[in-house]
This record gives sequence, C-alpha cells and structure tokens, in this order.
Amino acid sequence: TFVVTENCIKCKYTDCVEVCPVDCFYEGPNFLAIDPDECIDCALCEPECPAEAIYSEDELPDDQEEFLEINADMAAKWPNITEKKDPPEDAEQWDGVKGKKQYLER
Ligand code: SF4
Ligand code: F3S
Repeated sequence: TFVVTENCIKCKYTDCVEVCPVDCFYEGPNFLAIDPDECIDCALCEPECPAEAIYSEDELPDDQEEFLEINADMAAKWPNITEKKDPPEDAEQWDGVKGKKQYLER
C-alpha cells in the first residue's frame, strides 16, 4: 500500500485524489488517508503530492511508521474524496514544518 505521511497535515493539497484509479482516499479535517485494503500500489499519487507526503509502504521513513496504522484507522472512519479542492489558505506555511503530528485532527 501507499501511505500518506505527516507532511500532509495542514497542507492537504488534494492533488493526489484526482489520479487514484480506485478512489481510495478518505478526507479528514486536515489530512487525507489511503485505505490500505483498496490501494492497488499503482504509485500514481506519489509524484502528484506537492508536499511529497506520499510514500510506498516499502520506502516509508522510520519516523513515519505510525502513519501506516493512522491511514488504516482514518480511512475506515472518514468520507471518500475523489475531487481536488482548494487547500487551506496557510498550506504553504505549513509545508515542511516538523512535528505536525500533534495537529492531526481525527
Ligand atoms: Fe490510489 Fe495508486 Fe495511490 Fe494507491 S498508489 S492510493 S491506488 S493512486
Ligand atoms: Fe496531502 Fe499531498 Fe494529497 S498534501 S492531500 S497527500 S496531495
């Protein structure tokens, strides 16, 4: 599966959802999640993210391991999203900021 990681938090650009052939992105208040049971590992979403927040499970950085479970849990809970929408107004300011996990709204 592919995994949305910490840098999506408060950026939520949503470019990723437009390219997913199986529509497996789910939207929370300030983060998106990929359903690991639906993802077909096509890798199309990875280069689309302006925040470079999407990784293959196999290439997940060590400090992002917990996002595997976060994606699975949140995808089961949040509504599906298939169309790009405007990012938060302050998205650019949050891009690349470390330690954003504390702001993840579930
Ligand atoms: Fe969708 Fe493909 Fe990305 Fe999986 S890897 S979330 S199937 S675009
Ligand atoms: Fe998040 Fe990147 Fe998609 S910031 S919403 S994973 S395009």
